[in-house]
Amino acid sequence: MRFTLFFAAGVAGALAAGWLLFPRALYQAETQPLQFNHKMHKDKAGTECSGCHELLPDGQFAGIPKLESCAMCHAEPQGSTQTEKQLVENYVKPQREIPWKVYLRQPANVRFSHAVHTRQGGLKCEQCHGGHGDSERIEPFYRNRISGESRNVWGPRMVRAGLRPGEAMKMGDCESCHAGHNVLAGCLGCHQ
Ligand code: HEC
Ligand code: HEC
Ligand code: HEC
Ligand code: HEC
Ligand code: HEC
Repeated sequence: MRFTLFFAAGVAGALAAGWLLFPRALYQAETQPLQFNHKMHKDKAGTECSGCHELLPDGQFAGIPKLESCAMCHAEPQGSTQTEKQLVENYVKPQREIPWKVYLRQPANVRFSHAVHTRQGGLKCEQCHGGHGDSERIEPFYRNRISGESRNVWGPRMVRAGLRPGEAMKMGDCESCHAGHNVLAGCLGCHQ
């Protein structure tokens, strides 16, 4: 009886360590270089997503905007917040690019085209990125200590059921959406 209890406690402890503590130990939190408020830019500056995240006619996606597109407005102070001062003092004046970290960044052997998905496939940003485009704050970036990858590839928990868009993008996540749309992308469609 006592043995069974100890054994059960041991198993429960090991499971808890593996499922709860391991994900915490595996990832290291890194702060983004600056806070960024998507909602404020939509409400106060009225900028469309494409004004900052441009899809060029040749299908190339410009990604996160370069400093020059921020400087367009922030060469003059737009408000009086501390965060805006940091932007001006640390980046705009010294003309230093802001080293943003991309949450959904894929490993180097993956090939991903925004044009295929948004222009050709008509998908919405939220289907893969969740509510990021409407967010008021950005979260820390979590890096996998072993692989160096973003946590948003595997997802924040060991259990993968019930993950929301933007939390994860593993090979299986690309493939399960493709299966629902009858898309066939061979290994070399997604890998280089
Ligand atoms: C004023 C410029 C600006 C506008 C307008 C803007 N963004 Fe952004 N976006 C940024 C900057 C700067 C970042 C990097 C900081 C961050 O992660 O929020 C970013 C990051 C993102 C990311 C993070 C990608 C990743 O995986 O790290 C997504 C998704 C995104 N934007 C979606 C949107 C959507 C959707 C809209 C329209 C509703 C939008 N953005 C409008 C400037 C902008
Ligand atoms: C079209 C003009 C415009 C562009 C382009 C623009 N901003 Fe802004 N930004 C604003 C306005 C307007 C505010 C609101 C100022 C206020 O009311 O405090 C603002 C506020 C901010 C703030 C302060 C937010 C806070 O919570 O205190 C930061 C930081 C910022 N912007 C960063 C950026 C970055 C980084 C870029 C480039 C990716 C950018 N902005 C591009 C107009 C712009
Ligand atoms: C939310 C659904 C969804 C997710 C997630 C998704 N895709 Fe897609 N993908 C599509 C759709 C829909 C198309 C078809 C677009 C069209 O041509 O109409 C497509 C097309 C493609 C194609 C072109 C296939 C062909 O030959 O026509 C490639 C390559 C691709 N996706 C790669 C990826 C990769 C890599 C990922 C994960 C990082 C991914 N996709 C995640 C929906 C998705
Ligand atoms: C089918 C899923 C999907 C859709 C739809 C999608 N994205 Fe992404 N996005 C991704 C993936 C995957 C990455 C990482 C790409 C990589 O690492 O090569 C990414 C990366 C980004 C980034 C980081 C910059 C970079 O280097 O690529 C921004 C900004 C972004 N997306 C904005 C948007 C916006 C804005 C929309 C809507 C117009 C959108 N995305 C629609 C899957 C998607
Ligand atoms: C729909 C897009 C897509 C297709 C099709 C695809 N992959 Fe992937 N694959 C990915 C993405 C995204 C990753 C990176 C995220 C991850 O680790 O799951 C990846 C990761 C991998 C990895 C390394 C990570 C791991 O899970 O071990 C291998 C190996 C791999 N793919 C092989 C293949 C082979 C072989 C095929 C063809 C049978 C294939 N892939 C088809 C999107 C795809």
